[in-house]
Amino acid sequence: MSNQLQFIQTQIEDGIGFITLNRPKVLNAINRQMVSEIVAAAESFDQNPEVKVILISGNGRAFAAGADIDEMKDDSSIELELLNQFACWDRFALVKKPIIGAVQGFVLGGGFELALCCDVLFAAKRTEFGFPEVNLGVMPGAGGTQRLTKLMGKMKALEWLLTGDRMSADEAIQYGVINRIVEKEVLLEEAVKYSKKLASRPPIALRLIKESVLKAIDYPLYEGMQFERKNFYLLFSSEDQKEGMKAFIEKRKPNFKGK
Ligand code: CAA
Repeated sequence: MSNQLQFIQTQIEDGIGFITLNRPKVLNAINRQMVSEIVAAAESFDQNPEVKVILISGNGRAFAAGADIDEMKDDSSIELELLNQFACWDRFALVKKPIIGAVQGFVLGGGFELALCCDVLFAAKRTEFGFPEVNLGVMPGAGGTQRLTKLMGKMKALEWLLTGDRMSADEAIQYGVINRIVEKEVLLEEAVKYSKKLASRPPIALRLIKESVLKAIDYPLYEGMQFERKNFYLLFSSEDQKEGMKAFIEKRKPNFKGK
């Protein structure tokens, strides 16, 4: 089942919910309508039991070259405050299912912020990442300064944020910003292969693992461990826990149902 919206395409296949940014003429510049479409699609996949994993990518020669500069150039602070458009991204970050990003070309500004909300990132060789907002007289506003700093630390994050320079895929992998670098021709294939692997895992465990890891970023260790423990106990109420352990004892493959 595939669906063509104004600025994205969506599809469900083999347990994967695909979101493809589709504004290639402007390097998938993210305008307000596109943000709404991405967030609505992700939330709808999150609710759909057919979807186990979400895979986001971009058509054309960029994942996304940032927020749509043309759309926002004349905005006033008060308009931005009242619209509070970036709060929409908080909803994307609250999606419970794993989100795999398959990125290539340019991953800049708001595009990089979107990528940093993903849980696993595959990047094509020669992908360029960065926060060029400083060159426009502004700064990242949808999590860039926070998420990049939590990943690489203050000194490194400031180096990129203050200059607006573009980071290569090799640098991004060294900093722990991305997981894999692959040839562009096989980017989607590799990301799909990985997504299928996750789709075969018990969905409730995936969900609680993601939730626990995200809490590790915000919580002190002790509170994080309490949170993890409760989730571990909670999984013993799932049919998948019974099935997983029974299948191990019976030496067969488990049949997980997401219940
Ligand atoms: N917004 C609007 N249009 C954009 C865009 C953007 N962020 N990025 C690219 N485009 C458009 C260009 O205007 C151009 O359109 P036309 O063909 O109609 O002229 C088209 O996409 C192709 O771009 P280029 O001709 O510039 O392609 P290039 O290969 O020469 O350069 C690039 C590629 C280096 C990525 C360059 O396009 C660029 O610098 N883009 C802007 C990057 C940027 O500053 N991003 C941050 C935006 S602000 C932000 O994201 C705020 C936030 O935190 C939420």
